[in-house]
Amino acid sequence: MKAAFIRQTGPARNIEYGELPAPEPRGMEVLVKVGAVSVNPIDTYIRNGANYWPLPSPFIIGCDLAGTVVATGPDTRRFRVGDRVWGSNQGLMGRQGSFAELAAVDECWLYPTPEGVADETAAACALVGITAHLGLFGRAALRTGETILVNGGSGGVGSVVVQMAKAAGARVLATAGSDEKCAACRTLGADVAINYKTVDVVEAVKAAAANGVDLFWETTREPNFEVIVSMLAERGRIVLMAGREARPVFPVGPFYVKGCSLHGFVMFKASPDEQRACADDINRWLASGQLKPNISRVFPLAEAAAAHELQEANTLQRSGTLAGKIVLKP
Ligand SMILES: NC(=O)c1ccc[n+]([C@@H]2O[C@H](COP(=O)([O-])OP(=O)(O)OC[C@H]3O[C@@H](n4cnc5c(N)ncnc54)[C@H](OP(=O)(O)O)[C@@H]3O)[C@@H](O)[C@H]2O)c1
Repeated sequence: MKAAFIRQTGPARNIEYGELPAPEPRGMEVLVKVGAVSVNPIDTYIRNGANYWPLPSPFIIGCDLAGTVVATGPDTRRFRVGDRVWGSNQGLMGRQGSFAELAAVDECWLYPTPEGVADETAAACALVGITAHLGLFGRAALRTGETILVNGGSGGVGSVVVQMAKAAGARVLATAGSDEKCAACRTLGADVAINYKTVDVVEAVKAAAANGVDLFWETTREPNFEVIVSMLAERGRIVLMAGREARPVFPVGPFYVKGCSLHGFVMFKASPDEQRACADDINRWLASGQLKPNISRVFPLAEAAAAHELQEANTLQRSGTLAGKIVLKP
């Protein structure tokens, strides 16, 4: 089979595209003929040698996938040959990744793709969708009628947070780095979109939510807590899920006097049951059209290295040339 893989961690040019032996589904694995995959920033950190855990060699890159089951291991119970599936959490914790024509995936990380939903759509919502759900409902317990501010509302995670918060009946404020991206946030359902490059965000939030926001979702890697806490309502919550190196100053006084709380997590540590509960809602929203991925670019799988470069330029160097997800097709 054709696959995108590395033999050595390092820059994007280390990604090779070529033939690897097709995997055999063992135990509870099913063999998926991959229709689409998508890129996440963590793919680039791992490829670059972040060294969170030992990697198989060669290591097939990528977490997300969607496709069709073509074979099943002897102990599988959930899926049959011909079923359409999507999933994430591959290429993590020492598992092989998804950027290949075929992937052997433990069925605990796979979910049925709703009828009428394309593989590109399902793959683009996978890791970011589960992340958004875990944070909004598992951690921060967003409630109908609350106000949320999504910092980075047109990005991979942010664009899904905007849509899920809206689907849950919240009032949604979002920031983005251009007027076009603000318009995209509004299309996704944001009630208010603020261009953080041209507008004073604190003033704009004050004008839109006089008592402050109930939930602040940070997608950037360097949160400014002085600013964030100043924008929170009484008992406001903050969700943090990025910035392993960040060591910002924290305004303890204003934070605890307002009765605020802080919620951090990584999606890949959530159990299969926790992730499946997210996938059930994601499937419901995909089927109803309430959740649509913000697909910014589509590449052939052979151009995985270029896709990584583009993701990295945006997540790390903030080039602003991406508005959402990168999808690749074998
Ligand atoms: N904990 C977890 O489980 C988990 C899961 C997924 C992702 N992550 C992490 O979350 C981060 C975001 O992931 P992603 O896939 O959404 O990446 P992404 O698609 O690259 O999005 C990054 C976002 O940051 C915004 N941004 C950059 N500078 C900003 C600023 N000064 N103010 C406001 N917004 C700003 C960008 O907006 P503009 O383009 O409009 O400037 C863009 O929307 C990454 O660091 C990733 O590693 C963590």
